[in-house]
Amino acid sequence: MEESNRLDLPIRPRRNRKSAAIRELCRESRLSVGNLIYPLFVHDGDRDEAIDSMPGCVRWSLDGLVREVGEAHGLGVRAIVLFPAISAGLKSPDAAESGNDAGLVPRAVRVLKAAYPDLVVITDVALDPYNSDGHDGLVADDGRILNDETVAVLCEQALCHARAGADIVSPSDMMDGRVGEIRAALDAGGFEEVSILAYSAKYASAYYGPFRGALESAPKSGDKKTYQMDPGNSREALREAELDVAEGADMVMVKPAGPYLDIVRAVAEHVDVPVAAYQVSGEYLMIKSAAAAGWLDEKAVVMEALLGIRRAGASVILSYFAKDVARWLA
Ligand code: PBG
Repeated sequence: MEESNRLDLPIRPRRNRKSAAIRELCRESRLSVGNLIYPLFVHDGDRDEAIDSMPGCVRWSLDGLVREVGEAHGLGVRAIVLFPAISAGLKSPDAAESGNDAGLVPRAVRVLKAAYPDLVVITDVALDPYNSDGHDGLVADDGRILNDETVAVLCEQALCHARAGADIVSPSDMMDGRVGEIRAALDAGGFEEVSILAYSAKYASAYYGPFRGALESAPKSGDKKTYQMDPGNSREALREAELDVAEGADMVMVKPAGPYLDIVRAVAEHVDVPVAAYQVSGEYLMIKSAAAAGWLDEKAVVMEALLGIRRAGASVILSYFAKDVARWLA
């Protein structure tokens, strides 16, 4: 690094920071509401329920969901992803409810698309909300997670969401080969316009704890380490992303986001489809709880955390703060 220029005068990088307008000119990465996906929880009740494990988040009734999405949409949020809290009576070892056309997710998709035709409605494809075992896949008698049998059920689930009008299906299960099979099933069903946002590098993370509380979907036995990725690995993330792109993923995701920014960067450099990153429930809760205690400035920290995710190379960010951010950016 040169310390002085040819005139032997000191180099002064601070000149590029001397006013708000100059800082704005020089800024490389920006956060905009158009980059955000708002994750929302929905349940089958008539009432909206506060979620104990995620203060500030709500399990919406269908009516509440339409109102909440309307507010977000009015602030410029144009994409949402749905997570269903399925009542215990509808959970089973074969997760049959996941493909029910009259089920909660298809009903939610229909009312949202009817109310806001330009809204991008994304659905989560995985069995954990429906599976009495709380795993993303089907569980064999000996406790193994069955890969190919699960993929067949995921294809039915994706088709069910496509029939309801989902714009994007988003497999979060981490089974091998599911993106290609889902792509083939969608195309065969006449849904070649439905996109796939693949959770490609999804780590076996303790940061998902509050989310599992929200859906009462924690695994009944074992953990998710035979399908979600080992937090020590980065090259494996490239392999997973590459496979998903080869199988037809339109976008790939890294999850969690904040503790895995190196992975966001590496994946963005490795594949040529848009990269999404998910600021997960634990990341949300750490900021929320510190702010509630008066220890952090919530708005400033959220904006910095999300800008960092953009700077790392993500075009798309999933965040429970999406509606707040839309308001702050307005
Ligand atoms: C499960 C799923 C999880 C999340 C999204 N989809 C939890 C898990 O894998 O156990 C976590 C999201 C969050 O923590 O905010 N298919």
